[in-house]
Amino acid sequence: MCAKSKTIYVCKECGCQLPKWQGRCPDCGAWNSIEEELFSPQPAAKGLGGGRNTGPIPQVESLREVEADEGERYHSGLGEFDRVLGGGIVPGSVVLLSGDPGIGKSTLLLQICQTLGEHLRLLYISGEESARQIKLRANRLKVDSPNLFLCASTDIEYVLRVVKETAPQLLIVDSIQTMCLSSVTSSPGSVTQVRECTSLLTQMAKTTGIPTFIVGHVNKDGAIAGPKVLEHMVDTVLYFEGERSLSYRVLRAQKNRYGSTNEIGVFEMEGDGLREVPNPSMMLLSDRPEGVSGTCVVCLLEGTRPVLAEVQALVAKTNFGAPRRAATGFDYNRTVLLIAVLEKRGGFFFGNMDTYINVVGGLWIDEPAADLPIALALVSNLLDKPLGDDTAAFGEIGLSGEIRAVGQSLQRVSEAYRMGFRRFILPQQCLKSLDASQFPGAQLIGVRTIHQAIKAAAAPRG
Ligand code: TYD
Ligand code: MG
Repeated sequence: MCAKSKTIYVCKECGCQLPKWQGRCPDCGAWNSIEEELFSPQPAAKGLGGGRNTGPIPQVESLREVEADEGERYHSGLGEFDRVLGGGIVPGSVVLLSGDPGIGKSTLLLQICQTLGEHLRLLYISGEESARQIKLRANRLKVDSPNLFLCASTDIEYVLRVVKETAPQLLIVDSIQTMCLSSVTSSPGSVTQVRECTSLLTQMAKTTGIPTFIVGHVNKDGAIAGPKVLEHMVDTVLYFEGERSLSYRVLRAQKNRYGSTNEIGVFEMEGDGLREVPNPSMMLLSDRPEGVSGTCVVCLLEGTRPVLAEVQALVAKTNFGAPRRAATGFDYNRTVLLIAVLEKRGGFFFGNMDTYINVVGGLWIDEPAADLPIALALVSNLLDKPLGDDTAAFGEIGLSGEIRAVGQSLQRVSEAYRMGFRRFILPQQCLKSLDASQFPGAQLIGVRTIHQAIKAAAAPRG
């Protein structure tokens, strides 16, 4: 007997189901997120468990007896990729790779097949491209592993059967939005389809131990298309991002059950695929202007890795009305706060000045360590006095104008020293953890207040 299918309404954001359409989801509060779907219910079973779960009950184990050998991780041949995953691919893990269309998700996954294919049998399921298209791309990427098998299919049940028959050791599904389960009547890419297909793939990965990569698209707001529940179902969520017009791409873990989420991997898209950028500081500083005011280099920490970035400030006279405050790559409210501190505690006035802050290279800084360099760049441009090309700074600024310590100063200074910087303006507290003899020829200037910092920056070099 086939139960009659009925129309239900599902929230794209949280997956909540409603009997009627509404403008706003009552569960998660998202506006305009409810979509119509056809739903054919499974025949309802009666009683507890419906008489279906009559097999042996699942095993209960003592924590101490559970075997938790993480096992060997697979290495993809791209060190940046492995680092973001927490040191390689964990057997049985499900990784969701998402990003804007055309950012290079398929390219990245095809590229790792070359090294992985040396030891593992790989299956690449494509719902978007034909095997021929993948072959053409593989030619460009110089991927020709004999262990890589392709299958163009969008039916998840066939996919599962293919997996069972070919028994691959690693599975790639490109993309989840094209997969469909025939018993669900809604169209591919809809909330129910995406959820059901992911759930089947996750179950399979957990039972067979096949590591699975799933490509997911993002919608125009940058969130993964499909319900939020998708992110809960997988072990790791990776975002591949970058400006389409720039060739640099950043891979970031948003959730990772097997490692830290702070690591980033940097790649460059070239004619023959993605190339790792092991030294992002060099890339971010490559076009730095010399001898100009309003720029300062900051030592950031992206996870365990120190990265140097350039912050720029432009201070220009306001022509009309209230002064403008704008910030790219840095929090707007924090910019306004820093300007207020500079006015009240430093004695610099921006009341009739428009101020613009820019972080070079499309980077987004959310570390308080960038406060001091931004304040120095602002004052430098206001007074039109360059800070010096070999000056780097870091430190958090408090509301009373004090410079507060930030963590891992040794890593920050070492990276900047390695990149040729010789004058460091940093919180006085941080000097304690530094040994000046490690940095011959460098000037380490510890400061306690914003006043001291500006004085130190303006002081003649000696
Ligand atoms: P792709 O991996 O198809 O993106 P996604 O799967 O995320 O949608 O990447 C496609 C883009 O990358 C395309 O605009 C062309 C560019 N590209 C290169 O620049 N070099 C290359 O070697 C390849 C394969 C792609
Ligand atoms: Mg693709």
